[in-house]
Amino acid sequence: MPDMEGFREANNFGLGQAQATDNFHVKGASNLPWGMKDRLTRIFNPKSGKAVLLAFDHGFIMGPTSGLERIDLSIVPLLEYADCLMCTRGILQSSIPAATNKPVCLRSDAGSSILTELNRNVLIDVEDAIRYNASAMAVMFAAGDEEREAITAANLVKAVDLGNRYGIPVMGVTAVGKQMARDARYFALASRMCAENGASIVKTYYCEGFERVAATCPVPIVIAGGKKVPELDALKLCYNAIQDGAAGVDMGRNVFQSEHPAAMIQAVHAVVHDGITAEQGYEMYQDLSK
Ligand code: 5RP
Repeated sequence: MPDMEGFREANNFGLGQAQATDNFHVKGASNLPWGMKDRLTRIFNPKSGKAVLLAFDHGFIMGPTSGLERIDLSIVPLLEYADCLMCTRGILQSSIPAATNKPVCLRSDAGSSILTELNRNVLIDVEDAIRYNASAMAVMFAAGDEEREAITAANLVKAVDLGNRYGIPVMGVTAVGKQMARDARYFALASRMCAENGASIVKTYYCEGFERVAATCPVPIVIAGGKKVPELDALKLCYNAIQDGAAGVDMGRNVFQSEHPAAMIQAVHAVVHDGITAEQGYEMYQDLSK
């Protein structure tokens, strides 16, 4: 028992001063439990409200794609510049030093390869996401894909149920079937459906009219980078997405396939968090590439 001798009576009550309320920095997350908020805060910087996720989960559908042949050589040197790592448990376990201590958005479904159409994905065990200390679980949702819409919606809902049980937010990843138009109408529908089904983060693509996609999605959107384009164009994509309401980027190929990946991710970080223009970001990229 604590010693009562010398016990100081409570006397600092802040009377007349309302208790501080938490103005949480992640869109749509104010009512989430503490553990969820803690995990989201590991991903989204409380000062800027933004996030740069480094996506290198491509191997789970593509195998050893360019830039990801040797994770230890190409990705590990970039980890310090990322706010969050998006990868599979196989790569996390085999190739990412645990001492990196970065939040992980764990790719939590599997079942497709680029050799076929989208397949009937299954979820990994949520206990494994807990064992890997995941800060979020990423699950694909294929809106409008007649064969896969229902199964990917079921995966998303199940992941959200399990995530809610253990305090792990889910990222809904909008997968675009070959037959879908990549326009604001489609991305707004797919993003909103992810959020309505309980996703706390949505990953989708930038498009013309993106401000409508972001405005109608009640949780933060991070955009994928897509196929490799010249660095200035990729930085313009980041800048435009942020200006139009994205909360960050979840970028892969435009970072790790860049001629200077470390310079590129730092420039992306500055565009996302510091609000510099794409041109300023490109100057930074060039300076850091020397
Ligand atoms: C695949 C993914 C990838 O992580 C995503 O496409 C991001 O990578 P990139 O910027 O290379 O498009 O979610 O389903």
